[in-house]
Amino acid sequence: KDLYGDSRQNSEGVEFGCAAERNLLTSGMAKTTAPFTEAAPLGAGLKPSGDANPVFAPMDGSTKVGTVRFADSETARLAVENAQKGFEKWSRRPVEERAAAIDKVGDLLEANRDRLMTILSLEAGKCLTDGIAEIREAVDFCRYYAAEARNLFGEGKLMPGPTGEENRYRYRGRGVFVCISPWNFPLAIFLGQISAALMAGNAVVAKPAEQTPLIAYETAKLMYQAGIPEDVFYLLPGEGDVGAALTSHPAVAGVAFTGSTETAWLINGTLAAKRGPIVPLVAETGGINAMIVDATALPEQVCDDVMMSAFRSAGQRCSALRLLYVQEDVADHLLDMLEGAAKELSLGDPRLPSTDIGPVIDEEARDNILSHVDDMKESQKLRYAGKTPHGKLANGSWVAPHIIELDKAEALTREVFGPVLHVVRYKAGDLDKVLNQIAGTGYGLTLGVHSRIDATVKKVVDRLSVGNVYVNRNTIGAVVGTQPFGGSGLSGTGPKAGGPAYLYRFALEQVVSINT
Ligand code: NAD
Ligand code: ALA
Repeated sequence: KDLYGDSRQNSEGVEFGCAAERNLLTSGMAKTTAPFTEAAPLGAGLKPSGDANPVFAPMDGSTKVGTVRFADSETARLAVENAQKGFEKWSRRPVEERAAAIDKVGDLLEANRDRLMTILSLEAGKCLTDGIAEIREAVDFCRYYAAEARNLFGEGKLMPGPTGEENRYRYRGRGVFVCISPWNFPLAIFLGQISAALMAGNAVVAKPAEQTPLIAYETAKLMYQAGIPEDVFYLLPGEGDVGAALTSHPAVAGVAFTGSTETAWLINGTLAAKRGPIVPLVAETGGINAMIVDATALPEQVCDDVMMSAFRSAGQRCSALRLLYVQEDVADHLLDMLEGAAKELSLGDPRLPSTDIGPVIDEEARDNILSHVDDMKESQKLRYAGKTPHGKLANGSWVAPHIIELDKAEALTREVFGPVLHVVRYKAGDLDKVLNQIAGTGYGLTLGVHSRIDATVKKVVDRLSVGNVYVNRNTIGAVVGTQPFGGSGLSGTGPKAGGPAYLYRFALEQVVSINT
């Protein structure tokens, strides 16, 4: 057991270097063929309505992965009101029963790994390594929050003190939690929010991102199969208007949101404008994540870690590296190495083990990233632009890796959510200036430091209030229960997902004092 009494094991991965393991996965995936699923609102008392719109794979824009019927604001109202009734029963269930159901969700995800992986590849463009890591993260969230809840949500804790009474301190659910998630972790973040809210005793109405309704729908069906009642968990595929209808409903007891900082501001405003109970907002948002590399760093390791941090998942991770600061003495050498390594990355069908980088999520995302690159080309130095796939995949939403050298860090003013690495040189004596620049962005999600000087590392870590700092390694792939994840400032409210403080924000405290 660790410091927090967690004796849980993290889920098992796939050894991609082993042909037998790789083949087991790809042959399992080959058995599931598109189109897969017809997604629609789910939950007791809801009826599917609206048109069934096709969902196409971003890798080619033409492979049909399934269909989706979006919810509307009336369905949102009904879901919240029905979930209130579900909450009354669910919150009174013994924590062990709730935890057993969430553990079962984890087991079902593992049992359905190959099918889920195929949908993640086709609908969200996830490569195998990323998709498997995401399925594992989702499983880990379920088991971690179930284990945490068993510790927290039992009979409560008898409090010491002078009153001569029995004072019992305990946690209970708040009511109906709205969970709004992004497309870039359409399984792990979607389910991480939901499993925490359910484990804390809440009912949940979840709105997945409009780009990824199918994986959410498949997961919702597994949740019902695991024993989560249909009036306790509601799924509402839909666009931002459905999210807005949910967050403005007066009966909502809390909101868990992951997505852009702009949307978090909107939700914060909606909650603040309501005249009713003041409810918590857990918001996990974006970042302009930096890495600092000084002249003592090991170039080969830096090169690997930068490739991973900036380009894995096509740069579509909130944790991804956006701005690399390199001490000028080693900058030319390192930039040459980075360009060489970027050339080796292979873009293609995300279901193939040989693919390193899949498509970006849709044409809108592609155009947004490429217009940033075009703007940058006017005033900054484009060091490298990779090639996008041809042939059958030519019409997909592709952005190849780019490396842009900036004349000053301030040239990067926003989070560019794709495979674009910005590099800026700094002078050996200018570390304080670099730290001020990073702090000045207002974001605080991830930060990398590559240095063999302990005092430098300590200075960076102490100076910046960034949520997750990675020293002499890459900046992505936080592990549930081991590297709790989340930022501060413009990057979010906390508490950290997959960490010991997370469940508390979904719960109410209650003290029962009995005159014995
Ligand atoms: P987004 O803000 O556009 O959308 C996120 C979700 O909010 C979607 O489900 C969307 O439909 C919904 N939404 C949109 N408008 C709404 C409104 N007015 N009211 C309620 N809900 C609304 O973000 P995105 O493009 O899906 O995701 C990418 C962003 O998410 C990036 O900024 C990334 O950094 C961030 N992100 C952060 C984390 C983290 O843990 N900090 C993790 C993943 C992604
Ligand atoms: N938790 C994800 C990562 O660390 C976002 O990459």
